[in-house]
Amino acid sequence: MKECVLVTGGAGYIGSHTAVELIEAGFDVVIADNLSNSDMGAVEGVRKITGADVPFVQVDTCDRAAFEKVFEKYSFNSVIHFAASKAVGESVAQPLMYYRNNLTSFINVVELMKQYGRPNVVFSSSATVYGEADTLPVTERTPRKPATSPYGNTKQMCEDILRDSVAAYPGLRGIALRYFNPVGAHPSALIGELPRGVPNNLVPFITQTAAGIRECLSVFGDDYNTPDGSCVRDYIDVVDLAKAHVVAIARMTQGKSKADYEIFNIGTGKGVSVLELVRTFEEVNHLKLNYKIVERRAGDVESIWADTTLANDELGWHAERTLDQTLRAAWEWEKHVRGIK
Ligand code: UD1
Repeated sequence: MKECVLVTGGAGYIGSHTAVELIEAGFDVVIADNLSNSDMGAVEGVRKITGADVPFVQVDTCDRAAFEKVFEKYSFNSVIHFAASKAVGESVAQPLMYYRNNLTSFINVVELMKQYGRPNVVFSSSATVYGEADTLPVTERTPRKPATSPYGNTKQMCEDILRDSVAAYPGLRGIALRYFNPVGAHPSALIGELPRGVPNNLVPFITQTAAGIRECLSVFGDDYNTPDGSCVRDYIDVVDLAKAHVVAIARMTQGKSKADYEIFNIGTGKGVSVLELVRTFEEVNHLKLNYKIVERRAGDVESIWADTTLANDELGWHAERTLDQTLRAAWEWEKHVRGIK
C-alpha cells in the first residue's frame, strides 16, 4: 500500500508544488486548505500535472472539530504543515491574527497526530528565524535571533512546539525545514506563486512589473555592505524545495531519522543580490525591467544565505535547478496567468 501524506495548505504556492513531487515519488496525497489565500486552480493544476485524482478537503486547520474529520476519514501516517499566514508587514499590523492562526493550526495538527497515532510531521519554517546572523553562511547551529516580527515569532514558536512535543510524546517524529527564499514555478506553468493584491516578495513583483501590472519595481536600498549595495538572499527553486519535503517524509517513513526532531536548511548555498537577480531575469527572458532604487525597507536583513551541508549529506538532497531556469519558469507562469503569449 502507498504511504499517504496530508498536506495542509496544499492549495498554496509551496504546498501545491510539494503535492506534485510527492505524487510523482509514489505517495498518495490528501490536500487540506481553507482557500483563504489560494484557490482551487492550484489543486486543479496538481491534478492535471500528475493525472491523479487528488482528494481535496476545504477546511480551516484552526477549526479543530472540522479538521479532526480529516483524520477520521483518511489514513495518512505523515503531515506536512504549510497552512499559515506569511506576510511580515500584515503580522506587525495584526499580531493577534497571526498568533491565533499560525499557532492554533499547528497545535491542532500536533494534537490530532498524537490522538490518532500519526507519527511524522514536517513543519514549514523559515530562514527568518536566524534574523541578521553574525556569521554567513548560516548553519542549523547558527543561533536563532529574537524575531523581528510576529510572523517570524510564530515560526520560532512552532519550531519549539514541535521540539517539545516530540520530546514528550513517544512515537511522534518531526522535521523542521528552514526555507530560504522560495521562487519560481513548476516547469509546466500550471502552478506557481499567485499573491493576492500587491506582492510583498521580490520575484512576483518582478514578474508582475514585466507583465505591465505594476509600473516599476522598487529596489529597496543600494547602500548595504554587499558587493553591489543591494541585499543578498539565497533564492531556492520551488520545485527543488518541494523535493526536499519528499526526502524529509521518506526519511521518517523509512525510519532513517537520526533524532526525533531534526532541522534542515533548504537553500542553494549561494547568495544572490537583488540587482543580480533583476539582471538575470532580464537576460534569460530577453526583456527590460522598469526599476528604480528607493530607500531601504524597514526590517530587511542585509545578507543571508544557507550552508546546506546537512541537507546535502543527511537527506541526500541538493538544489538542482539553476537561477536561469528558475527565473524563466517564474516568467512563463506569470505569462500563463495573464494570458500573455
Ligand atoms: C520575506 C520575509 C521573510 C519571509 C519571506 C517569505 C521580510 C523582512 N522577510 O523574506 O520573513 O519568510 O519573505 O517569503 O519581509 N525587494 C525589493 N523590492 C521589492 C521586494 C523585495 O527590493 O519589491 C528586496 C528585499 O529588500 C530583499 C529581497 O528583495 O532584499 C527579497 O525580498 P522578499 O522577497 O520580500 O524576501 P525576504 O525579505 O528575504
